[in-house]
Amino acid sequence: MKKKVYVNQKGGSGKSILSYNDAYYLAEQGKRVLFIDGDEQANSSKSLAQFAVPGIGASALFSESPINLPTLPQQIVLLRGDAGLRQVEKSDKGDDELVTTLRARLAEIADGFDYAVIDTAGANSRVANALVVASDYAVLPCRIDPYSIDVATEVLKRIMFIQKKWNPGLVNLGILPNEYDTNSPAQDEWLKQLMSAYKQFVLGAFVTKRSAYREACGEGVPVWRLESESEDDAGKGKVKTAARTAGREVKAVFKMMQDKMENT
Ligand SMILES: Nc1ncnc2c1ncn2[C@@H]1O[C@H](COP(=O)(O)OP(=O)(O)OP(=O)(O)O)[C@@H](O)[C@H]1O
Ligand SMILES: [Mg+2]
Repeated sequence: MKKKVYVNQKGGSGKSILSYNDAYYLAEQGKRVLFIDGDEQANSSKSLAQFAVPGIGASALFSESPINLPTLPQQIVLLRGDAGLRQVEKSDKGDDELVTTLRARLAEIADGFDYAVIDTAGANSRVANALVVASDYAVLPCRIDPYSIDVATEVLKRIMFIQKKWNPGLVNLGILPNEYDTNSPAQDEWLKQLMSAYKQFVLGAFVTKRSAYREACGEGVPVWRLESESEDDAGKGKVKTAARTAGREVKAVFKMMQDKMENT
């Protein structure tokens, strides 16, 4: 089971939107996907609600006792973000104990899956860091705005610290610029600044700003399956043209990351 974590302590950078779409993408490639929502806000859990394991949330991964995962027919299995994560965060267990327990729980269930896709909270929290430490790959979604470079600096520092002190094998897939508005000269300039500051850490792709992402997450479908509700666009019940364009674009990004993960 290859473990891939979406991480950025900055809220609203696209971790939840991108990670749940990624889970759908990998599932469509025939992969068995464990989705771990490491955020008690549970945004991605809402979009993947139909795949939730009954009665078991992500906090069970930090429990001393093994998880008894039921055999489920679906391709995506969701451990939803639950309130128990807050107790884990505040518990008096040491950081190394959290990591050891998490690694043990993941190892026990790893055989059933090809990928674990992990969403984390927009905070530099113990739970989020433990999930990064236990991962094989990290992707860093980042909004493109005047603060991009500062945010990128912070999140890159955090990843490098984890690589140095906790998990030398962690592969940084890179910064993934998100909500990029191709019509904005200012965004163009900020992206250029980011690229020149951190060229070697920027994934060679970006995700554009499109309302279809927002609509699709509310519907609980991947953006490429967002259907029109009116006759005006593609026709009622057909995939919206804008959503199809968004889907094509974001799937190319997921494929790029998948190729990297399967060739390392
Ligand atoms: N490419 C995009 N185009 C349009 N809207 C987007 C895009 N990416 C994200 N959004 C919107 O921005 C908001 C924040 O995205 P998301 O919830 O994925 O961020 P997050 O990093 O998970 O935030 P948090 O740290 O609070 O969990 C959401 O309302 C989402 O719909
Ligand atoms: Mg989120």
